[in-house]
Amino acid sequence: MRIGIVTVSDRVSRGEYEDRSGPAVVAALRERLTGSWEPETRRVPDDESAIGELLIELVDELDCPLVVTTGGTGPAKRDVTPEATERVCDRLLPGLGERMRAVSVATVPTAILSRQLAGLRGSSLILNLPGNPRAISQCLDAVVSVVPHAISQAGGETLELADPPELPH
Ligand code: MTE
Repeated sequence: MRIGIVTVSDRVSRGEYEDRSGPAVVAALRERLTGSWEPETRRVPDDESAIGELLIELVDELDCPLVVTTGGTGPAKRDVTPEATERVCDRLLPGLGERMRAVSVATVPTAILSRQLAGLRGSSLILNLPGNPRAISQCLDAVVSVVPHAISQAGGETLELADPPELPH
């Protein structure tokens, strides 16, 4: 199984910045998702079409049941990750974005500025995280317990949690 991890950043894509967010997502997912999976890591500029095309490739061609993006969720003009995500998803799962913001804002007031969202493309889940590496674990912890359930309910592959919750059947 492959899991897509997409760093959205003009400066990382141009090689001006080291990508600290993508590796942080890989490490955070490795701690939280057991089972056999490999990261498919990508870097893309803050360009709505390029992000959308990459998300489609990861879901439709590489069969990633989960694609996690990092960056491009804020209010700056170049921040277009949520728009690209919404465009390629069939359905949004607004509760996941709401939950990530709600948890984050308790310690980081500016977290309310993130427009991060989540949605399904077919039976795959696309999840937006902010670019700040410190946001990654906090946001993942806010929603990871329901991620495998969301994907399996949508008809996708089974992901295994390191620390599974008690969910109603
Ligand atoms: N969420 C958490 N948990 N921790 C953070 O440090 N940073 C916020 C917000 N969400 C942050 C966070 C800030 S300052 C911004 S501008 C937005 O995420 C958008 O960040 P992005 O454009 O890198 O996605």
